Amino acid sequence: MGYHFKLIGYPIQHSLSPWIHGQFLEKSNLQGTYTRMEIKQTDSFEERIMQMKNERVDGFNITVPYKQAIIPYLDMLDETAEKMGAVNTVAYKDGKWIGHNTDGIGYVRSLESKFPKLLNNKEIKVLIIGAGGAARGIFVALDALGITAIDIANRTEESASSIARNASSSKGTNILTLEEAERTLGDYDLIIQTTSVGMKPNENNAIISIDKIKRSTIVSDIVYQPLQTEFLRKSAERGAKTHHGHTMLLYQAQYAFEIWTNKRVNIGDMEIKLKALLEGR
Ligand code: ATR
Repeated sequence: MGYHFKLIGYPIQHSLSPWIHGQFLEKSNLQGTYTRMEIKQTDSFEERIMQMKNERVDGFNITVPYKQAIIPYLDMLDETAEKMGAVNTVAYKDGKWIGHNTDGIGYVRSLESKFPKLLNNKEIKVLIIGAGGAARGIFVALDALGITAIDIANRTEESASSIARNASSSKGTNILTLEEAERTLGDYDLIIQTTSVGMKPNENNAIISIDKIKRSTIVSDIVYQPLQTEFLRKSAERGAKTHHGHTMLLYQAQYAFEIWTNKRVNIGDMEIKLKALLEGR
């Protein structure tokens, strides 16, 4: 018997999720499998999903490009997935398929694993750079924690405004251009880089110059190929504390596994193992 989990997306042959969940099953002494199910864009998505629903699956992760496409096939969404309009984890509970999104909470957990007290201060000033799916998840998770000053800087204003409409705090969110962000970096305690700028093979690029940063700032980059982005390297050079985004992979999976099994696995040495895996690529 045991648990039966899947990963759906395309392409997923290099995904680290099967490795991560394999480790989680082992660490928590649970029997089970976590297998890939690639759905090509030329396949019938509906047919493949129906086929999977007929198998005995306890839950699945869903990734690019289907995080929105899956929604019509689910019975309900939790509040976070609802706010994000995107699902990355589905659980089968009491005869219902329930959609969740663990990206934002995973990010927050990964940040707290390095800076445990940081988010106790709800007055902290945060700047999110970028306004894609990852930025939305992080915004929703920080807002849910009661962080009230979260600004967003993005090349396209409308995507940033659309994220800001999720704010439940009364202070509101300022939307900045990238140029404005560059000038006002010194105002922020935490800066989170969520765009793909700086990702291999363009690892010499950085989204903005960080010259105006203050030394006590924490700078985080969710790009993990390379692990040390140009943005983080320059921030460290200026004396800022840095947070590397690869651990978000572990913590979003930790939360998904918790939804499926009610067990929170200790990440322990997996951070070091993941780093080695990524560096070997
Ligand atoms: P994800 O869902 O993984 O977060 P995404 O939805 O593709 O990724 O979002 C990418 C983000 O990176 C967006 O904020 C995008 O800016 P736009 O909203 O203006 O498109 C940003 N981005 C990507 N390439 C960029 C570039 N060369 N310069 C500035 N911003 C860039």
